[in-house]
Amino acid sequence: MFKFKHELIEKNATLLLVGSLLVVTIGGIVEIAPLFYLENTIEKVVGMRPYTPLELKGREIYMREGCYNCHSQMIRPLRDEVERYGHYSLAAESMYDHPFQWGSKRTGPDLARVGGRYSDEWHVDHLKDPKALVPETVMPKYAFLSETPLDYSLIEKTLKANWWVGVPYTEEQMANAKIDLETQAELDGDEIDGFEERYQKASARVWDNNPDMISEMDALVAYLQMLGTLVDFDLYDASANKR
Ligand code: HEC
Repeated sequence: MFKFKHELIEKNATLLLVGSLLVVTIGGIVEIAPLFYLENTIEKVVGMRPYTPLELKGREIYMREGCYNCHSQMIRPLRDEVERYGHYSLAAESMYDHPFQWGSKRTGPDLARVGGRYSDEWHVDHLKDPKALVPETVMPKYAFLSETPLDYSLIEKTLKANWWVGVPYTEEQMANAKIDLETQAELDGDEIDGFEERYQKASARVWDNNPDMISEMDALVAYLQMLGTLVDFDLYDASANKR
């Protein structure tokens, strides 16, 4: 009896197609439907916060210049990667990236944890003329970033747009976007007023060694120096996050 039915399906292409579709549909529903009932598929990790306005601008420059064509921001959980770059990337670490910068090509090294690895001066010198520091590099020069004033006239709207797609910026953060950006780049060397409370672990300084102007270099270096530094892996316990 069973043999007969099997033969029927095998000899009838239409029936086989309908049968296959049915099986795939059931499998798909079983896999996908439960995800709609989870509030969040990304585990919460202590330390992650939305980017500061200056870091957000730096990130825009990173995208505009196509740095992602040569650099990934995703450390895979493989031994050689973890030994070279540090703890593998967590989903939460790119949860405020719209769009994400994982990348798919590594002409240069992964940058997910480049923050704090070099000094600001090193980054500025390297971005201005990579060959001066690494003679065999193929990375292009970005010296113009130091001379280009950062256009942050729309920064409040940029935060708002990020809020719209799910980044939990507070009213206060959005309202103070411009002042926070100037504070972090130390435009007037002003006292930090509420900035540190609004953004944990954010530091304010003159990033490109020129205190007279907020340049695109300031924003890009502030962004690079933050990458991978928000989560404290001495405190992070992967097993505690297992469901
Ligand atoms: C054509 C490919 C290419 C592009 C585009 C490129 N880079 Fe690179 N980058 C490299 C290579 C190769 C290296 C490794 C050698 C060196 O340090 O220059 C590197 C190194 C780096 C490093 C040092 C990383 C480390 O851990 O040593 C940083 C930081 C960096 N790039 C940032 C950037 C940024 C920011 C941009 C965009 C403004 C950018 N790169 C664009 C190829 C590229």
